[in-house]
Amino acid sequence: HVTIKSICCIGAGYVGGPTCAVIAHKNPHIKVTIVDLNAARIAAWNSDELPIYEPGLDEVVKSTRGKNLFFSTDVDAGILEADLIFVSVNTPTKIKGIGAGFAADLGYVESATRKIAEVAKSDKIVVEKSTVPCRTAQSMRYIVSTPNLFLTHLGSFSTNTDALPTRGSQLEANAKPDIHFDILSNPEFLAEGTAISDLFYPDRVLIGSLDTERGRSAAASLADVYAGWVARDQIITMNLWSSELSKLAANALLAQRISSINALSAICEATGADIDEVSYACGLDTRIGPKFLKASVGFGGSCFQKDILNLVYLSESLHLPEVATYWKQVVEMNEYQKRRFTNRVISCLFNTLTGKKIAVFGFAFKKDTGDTRESPAITLVNYFREEKAYISIYDPKVEESQVWMDLAEPGVVDETEVIKKQVSIAADPYEAAAGADAIVICTEWNDFRETVLDYERIYASMKKPAFIFDGRLILDAKKVSEIGFKVETIGRPRTTFVQSKDFE
Ligand code: NAI
Repeated sequence: HVTIKSICCIGAGYVGGPTCAVIAHKNPHIKVTIVDLNAARIAAWNSDELPIYEPGLDEVVKSTRGKNLFFSTDVDAGILEADLIFVSVNTPTKIKGIGAGFAADLGYVESATRKIAEVAKSDKIVVEKSTVPCRTAQSMRYIVSTPNLFLTHLGSFSTNTDALPTRGSQLEANAKPDIHFDILSNPEFLAEGTAISDLFYPDRVLIGSLDTERGRSAAASLADVYAGWVARDQIITMNLWSSELSKLAANALLAQRISSINALSAICEATGADIDEVSYACGLDTRIGPKFLKASVGFGGSCFQKDILNLVYLSESLHLPEVATYWKQVVEMNEYQKRRFTNRVISCLFNTLTGKKIAVFGFAFKKDTGDTRESPAITLVNYFREEKAYISIYDPKVEESQVWMDLAEPGVVDETEVIKKQVSIAADPYEAAAGADAIVICTEWNDFRETVLDYERIYASMKKPAFIFDGRLILDAKKVSEIGFKVETIGRPRTTFVQSKDFE
């Protein structure tokens, strides 16, 4: 099989950037060029202020950049030079057209693939790094084989593959006859916030290929790249469709654990059980295991919801409505959890938020990242706005401009001034909490723990009774309530005054 000397990664985002930086770092003999159409993002990758925050990322990039790691907007040059190309572009949920709200928008994957087909002058191994619906590789094969064909049905190509020509058909054989494109699936399992350690010490690396000599040989070339630092027995090869589906399946299973524990947290709140104790007891069962069993205000991030909706769409398209309904419930439970937590805030604050100040601690979807995509904090702040509250947000990593973008209604161009009448950004947690009626912890940043923050100082600056709603189970509720706070914790029964309304 071919030994890879030059790699191009299309898409310098949360996945392409860290993944290919680590590949370069661990394989000094391979030239890695990460390309993106977004010039500002590339400029940031080439500067001292990287466009994304990940613990350990700065060191990896700075030790490798300019040696065998390059960031560029010249997509064509990157493609021309590479033996192997990662397609690591975004695959958001479609907002319009067939499958809107569920199916993945594969427009970016398609245009990156078309670009490869158009530009390439030598054989390429093309690797799906983006999370894609099952059988996308088949569509990519079709595109690289027929670059000039105008495909109108690609928006829904995830499941409608019957219409596509099969391997070895006339169409495929006729396009760029001297150049071979091998498509591999190599889904990424890193989690934001721990991306670098996940990449350094992966649970597994998954490579899917066609079960042909060429397919296996391409997979072996990619496996060699990972073998630069990953043990061979952790590099798993399998068929393309299993590999594609495994990524959707893994995310669905992970999100399902969170929704399961969150569903149980509602029972705890109503009965007097404590979700941390329940989760501890269940997690000791080795068949269940302790990880990813933490109740919270809900999961966020760019992937879980999108990938499950994708699976729901796939199931529906395959005429498996029961399967679709099963997975859809995972997302619905997540929405319910955010509504439920908001209702608790309102009800504890004497059934009205009008004119009250709420300090929101954390806006990122989880700690150790500045990423806010699908963050539960966005939903909560919007609920609080509807209740006519004033909201002050503090997050250690999220940029102010990002908050305004996230709170604006989709399609509304400049709503910032309107939002600013109700929402402000604080420079630190003390400023956010000053004069507030309640603190709502939305992100589990260590900075918010009672061992780090001076909650006595915060208490002194707040209106009384001063409430804390811990949506992430990070506080020692007993200690904080000794200061005087009314502490309400997700997955634990309500501690404060219960309105008679609740008994009606
Ligand atoms: P992102 O939005 O941060 O990055 C994608 C980048 O691709 C953008 O910078 C965009 O400008 C660029 N791009 C789009 N089309 C292009 C084109 N034709 N040519 C050049 N550049 C182009 O997205 P992110 O988070 O890195 O995700 C990428 C894929 O990885 C998605 O499919 C996602 O589901 C998957 N994934 C994401 C994970 C995460 O934690 N964010 C984890 C595992 C998988």
